[in-house]
Amino acid sequence: MILVLNGPNLKRLGTREPDVYGAETFEDLAELCVATGRELGEHVEVRQTDDEAELVSWLHEAADGRIPVVLNPAAFTHYSYALRDAIAQRTAPLVEVHISNPAAREEFRHNSVVAGVATGTIAGFGLRSYVLALHAITQLS
Ligand code: DQA
Repeated sequence: MILVLNGPNLKRLGTREPDVYGAETFEDLAELCVATGRELGEHVEVRQTDDEAELVSWLHEAADGRIPVVLNPAAFTHYSYALRDAIAQRTAPLVEVHISNPAAREEFRHNSVVAGVATGTIAGFGLRSYVLALHAITQLS
């Protein structure tokens, strides 16, 4: 079992800034992750929330259950110490993913407050970032 957790605004993929995030929808992303999991022999559950508290509670659930996580923290990446502290409690690999390459965008996106407690980060490959992260996490688990 692998949890794929997504932060704020990611439910709006497809309509949200398609020049940056592409034309595929959140449902397309969820299907891609589940299909990749099937190929890898792993059950993948995909969730999204705009709520920091809910995301923190999912990270607690993963820590308690020793569940590997692929996480796109979205804007929380850049300022949520609560998310960082939750990730620091992880008991299994956690890969930070981004659809875009934050390092190539606005200055405020250059810093990730969660990268230092993640196993690693994959960014800039569009939805393929999730596929790469699922492959990576399967090899680590
Ligand atoms: C993002 C990058 C973040 O800077 C941004 O706030 C997002 C999406 C990405 O997947 O490229 O919401 O995490």
